[in-house]
Amino acid sequence: MSSPPSPLAGQAAFVTGAGQGLGAAIARGLAEAGARVVLADIDAGSAESAAADLRATGADCIAMELDVRNEPAFSRCFDAAVARFDAIDVLVNNAARTPFTSVWDITPEEWDDVLAVNLRGSFFGCRIAGRHMRGRGSGRIVNLASLAGQQPSAATGVHYAASKAALLALTRSFAQELAPHGVTVNALAPAAVRSPALDALNPAWQQALKAQIPLARFGQPEEVAAAVVYLASPAAAFMTGATLDLNGGRFMR
Ligand SMILES: NC(=O)c1ccc[n+]([C@@H]2O[C@H](COP(=O)([O-])OP(=O)(O)OC[C@H]3O[C@@H](n4cnc5c(N)ncnc54)[C@H](O)[C@@H]3O)[C@@H](O)[C@H]2O)c1
Repeated sequence: MSSPPSPLAGQAAFVTGAGQGLGAAIARGLAEAGARVVLADIDAGSAESAAADLRATGADCIAMELDVRNEPAFSRCFDAAVARFDAIDVLVNNAARTPFTSVWDITPEEWDDVLAVNLRGSFFGCRIAGRHMRGRGSGRIVNLASLAGQQPSAATGVHYAASKAALLALTRSFAQELAPHGVTVNALAPAAVRSPALDALNPAWQQALKAQIPLARFGQPEEVAAAVVYLASPAAAFMTGATLDLNGGRFMR
């Protein structure tokens, strides 16, 4: 029997918000593709337990406590990851807050915090990894955007939607900046993928959401992971500044 392909053999990846949900699945997908992986999360316990699950499969990975809102802390974690793995080839900016607060109820504090995690944290990630990758002349950055940043969605807050729309602009700007240095920066825009955030919606909402999906099902975290692995792999070397849609056909263009 032939072994599975390892397009990322010898590489190291850094995933934020990797303690649960899509981040944990992305870390697993990258490890299955041959990468060594850093699982960073504000929740140190969940990052450690996701990393322990991966180590049990033979993967070389470590967990780190990281609040992406804090640039010096992000830099220290990234430097420690570089020291551990010699270099970081792939950064996945996945950490996010997804509050479903109505437009009428969002407080200034909640607005600022959602933007701080989802947008500012990804900005810090692109800048920190960008400097490192620029110096090496290669690297891949994948930003987890969302359908909510492409068209209005009643299922997420307007602060979340605004942060994800801005993340597409951020992606294109860093792609432009880093292209001459051999670094690609792309966005992946999923929708309605099985995760703790989706499972937290009440059943009626979940049904209504599913009814809007032409493929008539929710996405699986492994499908998001496969798209991230593709964007990180040699096969995607000519793609930068792009937004890859993964939404069951809910948004076509
Ligand atoms: N699940 C979906 O259907 C879906 C759809 C579109 C986009 N996305 C995007 O995919 C990504 C993952 O989504 P999910 O559903 O797995 O979310 P989730 O809420 O289940 O997980 C988010 C993770 O980020 C961590 N986190 C939160 N704040 C942090 C901070 N300040 N610093 C570091 N880590 C922090 C959390 O602890 C958690 O582990 C997000 O960027 C989300 O916007 C998900």
